[in-house]
Amino acid sequence: MFSRRATSLAVLFVTIYGLLLGVSAFAGEDGVTAKEAVALQKPEPGSPGDTLTREDARMALLVYKLLDKDGKIKGADIKRGERLFMQNCRACHGNDGHRFNFSRYNEKPAYIGDRARDDMPTFWYQINFGDEERGMEAYIDEFPLQDLIDIAGFAQTLP
Ligand code: HEC
Repeated sequence: MFSRRATSLAVLFVTIYGLLLGVSAFAGEDGVTAKEAVALQKPEPGSPGDTLTREDARMALLVYKLLDKDGKIKGADIKRGERLFMQNCRACHGNDGHRFNFSRYNEKPAYIGDRARDDMPTFWYQINFGDEERGMEAYIDEFPLQDLIDIAGFAQTLP
């Protein structure tokens, strides 16, 4: 006769063995480790189960999908971007984007084109979420994503 303690120990071992078997079978099947399997269950960025803030999701999209290795916007229709810029941004920023100089401390001036080329994350954040204090509008709810991509691509060609 097994003692109660021995029985429950045996049950415990069988359970652990079963778990190990399960994990290793899973890992063996298509080369996915248990750790990767957990990571795979994370929601797609932007999907309903995704807990990123809206800001973080937009910025992640820029970094992971829209920028090439040189910091250039991918997939922009520059001609379309130019039209959208002239319709929506020119009134404040000027034809060539030189009406506002974002450079604060008398260094060399920094206009929209400079920002778009040298610091696309700042540019992208500003056109999506704006800056109420400085009088820059938020466009995330005004324009479809492709419009913002086209505008960003065109802005990189400004002097
Ligand atoms: C109603 C006027 C207005 C319109 C329209 C406007 N902006 Fe602005 N924008 C501003 C002002 C004002 C600032 C802040 C200027 C400053 O701080 O010197 C600004 C700042 C920015 C900045 C921030 C740059 C930085 O480095 O901080 C970017 C980028 C920008 N605008 C892009 C755009 C684009 C692209 C459009 C068109 C889709 C646009 N803006 C439309 C007024 C406007």
